Amino acid sequence: MGPPEEVQCRLARCGQSHLLRFWAELGPAQRGALLAAVPPGLAEHCRMAAAAGARQREPPERLDGRMEPLPTRLLGSARRSGPAALERWEAEGLHQISQNKVAVLLLAGGQGTRLGVSYPKGMYNVGLPSGKTLYQIQAERIHKVEQLAGQRHHCKCAIPWYIMTSEFTLGPTEEFFVEHNYFNLDRSNVVMFEQRMLPAVTFDGKAILEEKGKIAMAPDGNGGLYRALVDNKILDDMKQRGIQYVHVYCVDNILVKMADPVFIGFCVSKGADCGAKVVEKAYPTEPVGVVCCVDGVYQVVEYSEISLETAQQQSPDGGLMYNTGNICNHFFTVEFLETVAQKYEPQLKHHVAIKKVPYIDEEGNLVKPLKPNGIKLEKFVFDVFQFSKNFVAFEVLREEEFSPLKNADTADKDTPTTARQALLAQHYRWALKAGARFLDENGCRIPEKLSLSGTEDAPAVCEISPLVSYFGEGLEAYMKNKDFQSPFVLDENKAEILEKGGGLSLK
Ligand code: UD1
Repeated sequence: MGPPEEVQCRLARCGQSHLLRFWAELGPAQRGALLAAVPPGLAEHCRMAAAAGARQREPPERLDGRMEPLPTRLLGSARRSGPAALERWEAEGLHQISQNKVAVLLLAGGQGTRLGVSYPKGMYNVGLPSGKTLYQIQAERIHKVEQLAGQRHHCKCAIPWYIMTSEFTLGPTEEFFVEHNYFNLDRSNVVMFEQRMLPAVTFDGKAILEEKGKIAMAPDGNGGLYRALVDNKILDDMKQRGIQYVHVYCVDNILVKMADPVFIGFCVSKGADCGAKVVEKAYPTEPVGVVCCVDGVYQVVEYSEISLETAQQQSPDGGLMYNTGNICNHFFTVEFLETVAQKYEPQLKHHVAIKKVPYIDEEGNLVKPLKPNGIKLEKFVFDVFQFSKNFVAFEVLREEEFSPLKNADTADKDTPTTARQALLAQHYRWALKAGARFLDENGCRIPEKLSLSGTEDAPAVCEISPLVSYFGEGLEAYMKNKDFQSPFVLDENKAEILEKGGGLSLK
């Protein structure tokens, strides 16, 4: 039996008949799956992808002349603000959390191709002494910050965790959470949902077959969030729970402060509808997007969109003029998300990724191309800044809040090693500040080192469970004037013993 005539005609009209080339060889299930996978707007999508791909091969449009740095009145800073302001923001954030008005939303639909693992990045273990994965660290931070808000306001509160996955990551992520008993979070507060997928397209506008009966698909970018929120009725769920503020973040930053009370409190006290955390760029050409204004609206400008002179331009205070590096940590009010989802989403532009996409050739052989052959279209989560009525940015210290896991250990940055080092260096600093001393395996004191570069091992290995401390608070009770043998892991059991004044065997 041939393919349904209606489908044949529809695909022929838009130059996609090749998708049915192997129909005769497919079983009933494969045929059904192939037909179901042909999206309604395929023709339009392929045309748009080919046109965008052609534009992409031209030199990128430079935005230099149209850019301005963010006005300082919109920019808060963890580095430059005094302790009183930081405490005020933190108190505001904890108050909002205690009122059950804050949720976190994880963007976890990416394929993590650069890291080179076949499972979702959140399941990655960077080799900490505890063996914890990124998901476990994040879950424990949620627990702890709920507890901190609850203690301060004498109540029990919850921070729902929304997790956006894709066809690639939903199954394994769900299984992983079940296997780990949702890391002891209340299951009803963990909501996974799926973003849409889009076909990969050749330079001449043909959808690619990756198997004889399967179109090559890719997630529609982290800006697919806004459609996914509607598709999966997530905004309704948020409203039912009384959520007003959402902290959106990406999966790969081992130092991410989930529902960061300081950031939330800063944004809420400024009356912001949309906000971004930023870090100072490490060097002018660092390949991170810069949060700034273009033609008067807020935007993230990619490093490829500015010239070297602009990247190197200095501000009167001697720093870089464009210094606000995007770390994919965003604040949104639910109201803003709703307006974007209902009104502005179709206006978000498509970004183009040119990739090597394996395909089935005319003879039916699987080909792994050596050169890029496919166009993937993606929307970006930050492209909604332009619609904000009250945008703010908050600068944080890189060594405290940003160490992303992007690459395998063969690369020289953003690897499992650099992520592990960054976390252990932070915990070592916290421990020293709390008055801890470290001993080597012979019981000799390890000389302290207060300033550590991001790429160097701390002299002693100390890992602190997020269940014990969210961001370095409260550690004196366990660590002050005490000796610990490196490597040391401070988990809740050890914390309990130490708090009761008990000693830990150093062996
Ligand atoms: C991202 C930011 C970049 C920032 C950098 C900091 C975007 C578009 N870019 O870049 O400005 O400097 O982080 O680390 O935000 N994801 C999905 N669905 C998708 C694609 C991605 O959920 O379809 C998720 C990923 O799982 C990840 C996050 O979005 O958690 C970021 O995606 P990734 O592709 O890694 O962005 P970067 O290029 O690293």
